[in-house]
Amino acid sequence: MEGFTFYAPTYFAFGKETENKAGELVKRFGGSKVLIHYGGGSVIKSGLLDRVKASLTKENISFEELGGVMPNPRSGLVYKGIDICREKGIDFILAVGGGSTIDSAKAIAAGALYDGDFWDFYEGKTVDKALPIGTVLTIAAAGSEGSPDSVITKEEGMLKRGASGEAYRPKFSILNPELTKTLPPYQTAAGITDIMAHLYERYLTNTDEVEVTDRMIEALLITMIKEGPRVIEDPNNYQARANIMWAGMMAHNNSCGVGRTQDWSSHTIEHELSAVYDCAHGAGLAVTMPAVFTYTMNHDVNRFAQIACRVWDCKMDFYHPEKTAKEGIECLRNFLKSIGMPVTFEELGAKEEDIEKMAYTACYGDGNGSGYIKGFTKLDQKDVENIYRLMM
Ligand code: NZQ
Ligand code: ZN
Repeated sequence: MEGFTFYAPTYFAFGKETENKAGELVKRFGGSKVLIHYGGGSVIKSGLLDRVKASLTKENISFEELGGVMPNPRSGLVYKGIDICREKGIDFILAVGGGSTIDSAKAIAAGALYDGDFWDFYEGKTVDKALPIGTVLTIAAAGSEGSPDSVITKEEGMLKRGASGEAYRPKFSILNPELTKTLPPYQTAAGITDIMAHLYERYLTNTDEVEVTDRMIEALLITMIKEGPRVIEDPNNYQARANIMWAGMMAHNNSCGVGRTQDWSSHTIEHELSAVYDCAHGAGLAVTMPAVFTYTMNHDVNRFAQIACRVWDCKMDFYHPEKTAKEGIECLRNFLKSIGMPVTFEELGAKEEDIEKMAYTACYGDGNGSGYIKGFTKLDQKDVENIYRLMM
């Protein structure tokens, strides 16, 4: 295990009706003038937004509202949010929604305190200052409720990029599993896939002797394999939703990723798909992960065989560990298919003619990138093109 620092100070309120604590928590973390940020309307329809507003009013906290965050959140709304924060003297941002809303709130929070263009943070500048953020989560998926990350798409060129910094960790996150019951099954499944991807990206490491984090990841993956189908079958299963929601937070606040190198090739390659075709991030990952793993498997066949045995209950073939490794990847693909995710390029609406450009952007960004995706392995543009072709 390598040395590390880990600082994850988010306060979590988990369980039924916890959204009614929003006002109390904003106050506790110093907010007096709030920007409530939300998405395309699910929180209006469910009545959640009204409950959150009532909770703020009860504490005499004033607020402005900015809705309209799209899945794969765009830079345009971020600029609008930054202007509102400056004009109205906002001192706290409350995101009510999914990863897209939370990520947009984070970008606004950093941009509001920065003299330059907020996009600088999405081109590598560390986020060291941001307005405080709180979240009321409505989908178990991205893990942004506990992570120091945010992913935004710049409309010009449809570039999807991430930014990071401790200032992006929410001050508090409210997790009521009941709020996720209104999700369409496809979004529930996309969330499950994203959570599993966050675990796989950390499992694929070049660091030896990382037993504690290996075992934590395996436990969370096994939980997802058990609870995922339960919730797809019965969307009202509170306990299954509760287990998935907490697993989603644990999968991405990096408690499972400390002290080890991580991969993130699947995410980098997927981000091109959701930027170009505007597909759900989880759906893109369902198509991407098996292809990336098949392509990179021989880099450390034993690691893939290990996850196959420990997580998917495959039987170890000591003479041919590559067979066991492949079987594990096949189990993952079949599982994702069984919960309703696409597993081919075609199902995503992706096209062969876009492969070269997507592979270029994945490796070079808008021209300034290194030319490689470096993680578990080192992939160049040709490798990435080959991986996209494996998805067909
Ligand atoms: O916009 P509304 O109307 O709220 O509808 C949303 C949206 O259409 C809907 N939804 C959410 N909760 C609902 C609901 N519908 C009914 N009932 C509910 N309770 O679901 C759709 C998807 O929402 P979104 O916020 O986009 O989902 P998710 O949480 O999966 O976020 C995806 C984004 O997060 C990024 C992804 O790239 C993508 O842009 N990621 C962020 C990360 C981070 N910040 O740490 C890490 C991840 O790897 C990921 O890249
Ligand atoms: Zn993800």
